[in-house]
Amino acid sequence: MEFGELLYEGKAKSLYKSEKDDELITCFRDDMTAFNGVKKDSFQGKGAYNAAVSAFFFDYLEKNGVKTHFIKMLDDHTMVVKKLQMIPLEVIARNVAAGSIVKKLPFKEGQVLNPPVIVTDYKDDEKGDPSLNDDLIIALGLVTPEELKEIKAVTLKINKLLYEFFDELGLIFVDFKVEFGRYKDTILLGDEISMDSMRLWDKKTRESFDKDVYRFNKGDVMTAYAKVVEKIDEWKREHLK
Ligand SMILES: Nc1ncnc2c1ncn2[C@@H]1O[C@H](COP(=O)(O)OP(=O)(O)O)[C@@H](O)[C@H]1O
Ligand SMILES: [Mg+2]
Repeated sequence: MEFGELLYEGKAKSLYKSEKDDELITCFRDDMTAFNGVKKDSFQGKGAYNAAVSAFFFDYLEKNGVKTHFIKMLDDHTMVVKKLQMIPLEVIARNVAAGSIVKKLPFKEGQVLNPPVIVTDYKDDEKGDPSLNDDLIIALGLVTPEELKEIKAVTLKINKLLYEFFDELGLIFVDFKVEFGRYKDTILLGDEISMDSMRLWDKKTRESFDKDVYRFNKGDVMTAYAKVVEKIDEWKREHLK
């Protein structure tokens, strides 16, 4: 398949035109950024790890009734997806308090949030991704009230599926961020589901296996990411025989 022109270069992925008008090619690059792009590095093979995990979860979610943009992998860091009209929302589900929620509000790090908490941030790096409530989302015309309800329900469904999945792997699915977009008259899950967009803690030691390893210099981020990929590969060998 031929790559078309570069359409967008984000912080960690590049989007290219594809031969088909309603598809895009996404390249997961080795770049890693944190704190809204202030901290920047590159780790060889990181893009492939995130692409593999994203592809696995898109497939897993589709099998469990969640509609996603995923079509197929072209190589280890390149994915073909349905071209979406992205909704500029970062939909975050939290099972355990960590990160910004602990900084901004009187939650204790590690405090269990049951039922899980959904937070919706406006996706705009220049504005620092400000938090929105339902009224602001509707007033901004980002989605209709019905669509917002659907987006939240789908996010909670993904949360439950992935929480149970990681639990089996000995990991706590602390929180994650997803993005949705419009495709024809439906809303699909887009973007990525990777170690860059979630927090994962070891159940026993509480050690991080996600971007926090990089954010807070907690150790070797590639070793952490490799561990998640390895655990998923083990799960596949067990379950997809
Ligand atoms: N299926 C899709 N169609 C169109 N745009 C998408 C799709 N999936 C993800 N995107 C967008 O592509 C970009 C991915 O690159 P990324 O490096 O994550 O960018 P960013 O720095 O904006 O987070 C994001 O802006 C995301 O919203
Ligand atoms: Mg992104």
